[in-house]
Amino acid sequence: MATVLQVYTKAIEEGKAFGVLSGDLRILISHDMGWAEPIDTLFHKDEEFAAEPLFLEQYERLKKGEPVEYIINEARFLHHRFYVDPRVLIPRMETEELIANISERITDYFDPRNWLVCADIGTGSGAIAITLKSMFSNWLITASDISSDALEVAKKNIADSNLRVQTLQGDGLQPFIDANMNLDIIVSNPPYILNKDEVQDSVKNYEPSSALYLDKAHSVYEDIFSKYKKVKKGSLLMCFEIGYDLKDYLIDLMQRYLEDYEYEFIEDLNGLTRFLFVYCK
Ligand SMILES: C[S@@+](CC[C@H](N)C(=O)[O-])C[C@H]1O[C@@H](n2cnc3c(N)ncnc32)[C@H](O)[C@@H]1O
Repeated sequence: MATVLQVYTKAIEEGKAFGVLSGDLRILISHDMGWAEPIDTLFHKDEEFAAEPLFLEQYERLKKGEPVEYIINEARFLHHRFYVDPRVLIPRMETEELIANISERITDYFDPRNWLVCADIGTGSGAIAITLKSMFSNWLITASDISSDALEVAKKNIADSNLRVQTLQGDGLQPFIDANMNLDIIVSNPPYILNKDEVQDSVKNYEPSSALYLDKAHSVYEDIFSKYKKVKKGSLLMCFEIGYDLKDYLIDLMQRYLEDYEYEFIEDLNGLTRFLFVYCK
């Protein structure tokens, strides 16, 4: 039987022509061997690779461009691991930054120890809602999605987390309005890609298009801005992940719909404008 190192180095060499990343190979190997971390591939490099048949099958999928997270049905997000499959977007590092920005700024607006009512609109895997609930255990968090398929995945992750997060299915703010909810915080990472040509093939071919592309005729941003008064009782904080090229579009929407508000665009670690926080007094 081949050792882990032999299989790993052969796969790196062969995978070059297909753009396979060595980091993804470590994720696959460690997952198949039941090890906790990708780096364990190197710590156990001289062991016999008992899971080679399974790995070789998955490696073919990796060579075709399938994201490793869908192959192993698991994505890491901050200190969590979430179940993912092609019904949901794979949670991204930028969204980890969205959470970090909320955590850094929340005390500018609210005492986070209070029982704040929070909506995660377009929850996908549930990554935002579950992570916020794990950080702010007294918040009342409801995760929604227009896609019932995506919501099934979110429900699985919520059940696995043992945290209390409610779910609602529906379009934008409407399910919260229908449920007569008063919200303190709206968090949303909605579809925001304008230019389809900029999207990598592995994203285009495998991730759900309903999670990716902004349709200005049916925009979650516009839906929230145009209806926010129906869920606002006191002050309302809205925290969005946004496309780097949406600043003018969003300023225009805010001017059109919002009253008595402050806003801040925030850059990500790459220096791109990727988040918008809006505070309605
Ligand atoms: C970019 S993904 C974000 C998923 C997850 N929140 C995350 O950050 O990884 C956008 C999500 O919004 C959902 N969505 C798209 N249009 C929507 C709408 N009009 N109302 C509610 N959810 C919507 C999609 O189904 C998808 O799950």
